[in-house]
Amino acid sequence: MNPKEAETKIKELTSELNKHNHLYYVVNEPEISDYDFDVLLKKLLYLENQFPQFADSNSPTKRVGGDITKKFETVKHKYPMLSLSNTYSKEEIEEWVGRVKKVLAHENEDTKIEYVCELKYDGVAIGIQYVNGELKQAITRGDGTQGENVTANVKTIRTVPLMLRGDFPNDFEIRGEIFFPLKNFQRLNELKREADEPEFANPRNTASGTLKMQDSKIVAERGLDCYLYGVYGTGNLREGHYETVLKVADWGFKIPSPQKRYIEKVDSVESVMSFINHWSEERKNLPFEIDGIVIKVNAYHRQEELGYTAKSPRWAIAYKFKAERVESVLESVHYQVGRTGAITPVANLKAIQLGGTTVRRASLHNADQIEKLDLYLNDAVYVEKGG
Ligand code: IVH
Repeated sequence: MNPKEAETKIKELTSELNKHNHLYYVVNEPEISDYDFDVLLKKLLYLENQFPQFADSNSPTKRVGGDITKKFETVKHKYPMLSLSNTYSKEEIEEWVGRVKKVLAHENEDTKIEYVCELKYDGVAIGIQYVNGELKQAITRGDGTQGENVTANVKTIRTVPLMLRGDFPNDFEIRGEIFFPLKNFQRLNELKREADEPEFANPRNTASGTLKMQDSKIVAERGLDCYLYGVYGTGNLREGHYETVLKVADWGFKIPSPQKRYIEKVDSVESVMSFINHWSEERKNLPFEIDGIVIKVNAYHRQEELGYTAKSPRWAIAYKFKAERVESVLESVHYQVGRTGAITPVANLKAIQLGGTTVRRASLHNADQIEKLDLYLNDAVYVEKGG
């Protein structure tokens, strides 16, 4: 094959693989078998090796990883990454709605203010910049002003598009949460158990650790996922947040499903509470962990008017779930010797399901703690997840 032919073939395979990746991971309607997909991918890998001058930094071959990041460079965020203020009750949400209405009181009394309810994904925040339809950079939250460049690792996440489709803006940023789907987390811990290695404690910390691994191949194997929750720098492409989130599906992003009620536009506190009550109960059936609900004022012009405090937007608030608690039995205690020689008593519990993961062990910290809990073998105990 001459270089000209190779270049054409590489382009063809790239767009075909991008299409099938989107159909498989985003739309959930694959058109070809995994085997056929692999054959196409191997062809592309082969050609890229033969003709590296045509290998794109956003080639679908980046999904399998291989790029090593020795040191994650620090990058300044174009838009600061703020956090949300937390609430824990209906009263606090009513108070927030009251504050929102006060700021917007000059509007016609009859206009209903719309809110968007979303899941609060329990993972790691990420900002992904796209320039001319190509994924350019993915930065962790860091201290909110600057974060770490984890681009190579984020490229392995199949639901994050590398090249966009449709009529996207030239330069914008997608904000979202990277998390460990429970199925993949459990598979990872099964492998750890088989290898007689200590298991990972929870999906969130493991997602965070995975994102900072030097070898993107391992990241690719672990199977992280991502949901977007914000779009920056698109101008006011749509009137509000909800409409923008739906719109970016056209560019190839996986968006939270309105059908599954992962996202909902409402116009009353009662409807916000109905969303919260639904997910307080149903979150145990989700394939990933959430730690609350986020409520946002939908219209961008209202968000602008509400503005920000030093730490968080006034136009959004989080409702945090209370820690889930499950009863178990203390079956035995063993002593774990740490790297520094410190000895920690570990409780072996009757296996229970807690927030989507199986819990068999819990640290008892030290003898004082055991005494304080007045703990004996075969005691019934409550288990809660730590932060
Ligand atoms: S909106 C200006 N929406 O929760 C802040 N955040 O403290 C905009 N998170 O760091 C954040 N799910 O990583 C937003 N649906 C969601 C979210 C979400 C999870 C995280 C995010 C942020 C933290 C808030």
